[in-house]
Amino acid sequence: MTTTLLVTGGAGFIGANFVHMLAELRPDWRIVNLDALTYAGNLENLEGPDGPAGKANYSFVHGDITKPEDVEKAFASAAGSTGAGTLAVVHFAAESHVDRSILGGLPFVNTNVVGTQVLLDAARRHHVARFVHVSTDEVYGSLGPTGLFTEETPLAPNSPYSASKTGSDLLVRAACHTHGFPGLITRCSNNYGPYQFPEKFLPLMIANASEQKPIPVYGDGQQVRDWLYVRDHCEALLAVLEKGVAGEVYNIGGNNELTNLQLVRAVLKELGQPESLITYVKDRPGHDRRYAIDASKIRRELGWAPRFTFAEALPLTIRWYRAHQAWLGRVRSGAYREYYARQYGGR
Ligand code: NAD
Ligand code: DAU
Repeated sequence: MTTTLLVTGGAGFIGANFVHMLAELRPDWRIVNLDALTYAGNLENLEGPDGPAGKANYSFVHGDITKPEDVEKAFASAAGSTGAGTLAVVHFAAESHVDRSILGGLPFVNTNVVGTQVLLDAARRHHVARFVHVSTDEVYGSLGPTGLFTEETPLAPNSPYSASKTGSDLLVRAACHTHGFPGLITRCSNNYGPYQFPEKFLPLMIANASEQKPIPVYGDGQQVRDWLYVRDHCEALLAVLEKGVAGEVYNIGGNNELTNLQLVRAVLKELGQPESLITYVKDRPGHDRRYAIDASKIRRELGWAPRFTFAEALPLTIRWYRAHQAWLGRVRSGAYREYYARQYGGR
């Protein structure tokens, strides 16, 4: 039976990696990618000789998830090719950068909250079999020096970004509870890997260090994140899509806690660049101190565990960015430059 998957935000970092992975692991699935191509969306992420964009079973719909008519167009395209098969959704589309949400929260509420409700309404009308909502560990707020986020940890978001993601999680939860909707929620820690937009810390520091430019470290650099290679995240999402229980939440993490300073030092060492590039800058307002995920539920119930260690995946990631300097140059132009100047005062 044919599976047709409507992917939202498939031109962004994780969405593009997910669509690449499906071309490899589920080559018979039909993929419809709905993306508004904001500053973070880049169709180039799906192109290239082996890219999914060239395949007959892939199609792209340029549209905004906050606009019901765009969403309907994407569902019509997906449903049209499904026939008697299964129609499912994996929802990545979001405003995703915490610092931008501090500069202005409204686009986050529009896309992450309103856009998710528009999608949920259309998904119910089209009787989707599964709807995987890709959320974040940031909905749990911040941890002290010990302890881990479990799926039962109370929601306590601290930034406009994480508050808007929490709002979207609650809308998915409400659809499951009220309408028996087949929604599943995943909450993942910090991803790294190919195609990440260089406003995020890891590609930003790779790009800066390669040009011997300063690396801006917020505050004291002792904040902790749990770093997960994007391919591992994508494999976890496929496991949730295929084997997860509707209505459930699954945490996804790398079991790989690092302070920001440890991360910067590892990157500088790998690039052969000096630690003198580290530049302490003003802290992010409301900066969450520590995230750490307990991913034992997905391991126990769905048999997923990360396959890549940080020691393996960091060099792979750095090699990818070095081999894609032209890609990096293109995404760092235009709108990104304006934002960078506002955020870092021209550094
Ligand atoms: P990204 O910013 O790289 O990509 C977002 C994509 O969504 C872009 O292609 C963009 O064009 C598209 N988009 C934005 N607004 C849209 C709209 N209104 N309509 C249609 N498309 C729109 O994000 P990412 O880092 O790939 O994150 C993907 C998802 O995963 C997000 O929901 C994010 O909250 C979640 N997440 C990210 C991480 C991480 O470390 N990057 C970790 C956990 C969860
Ligand atoms: O935890 C999952 C989240 O991870 C996702 O939900 C978000 O979409 C994703 O952007 C990411 O959020 P973070 O805020 O943790 O990621 P970011 O790359 O922006 O920052 C990582 C850490 O590095 C954080 O503690 C802030 C710090 N930082 C970031 C930047 C951009 C710096 O010290 N300097 C910087 O210039």
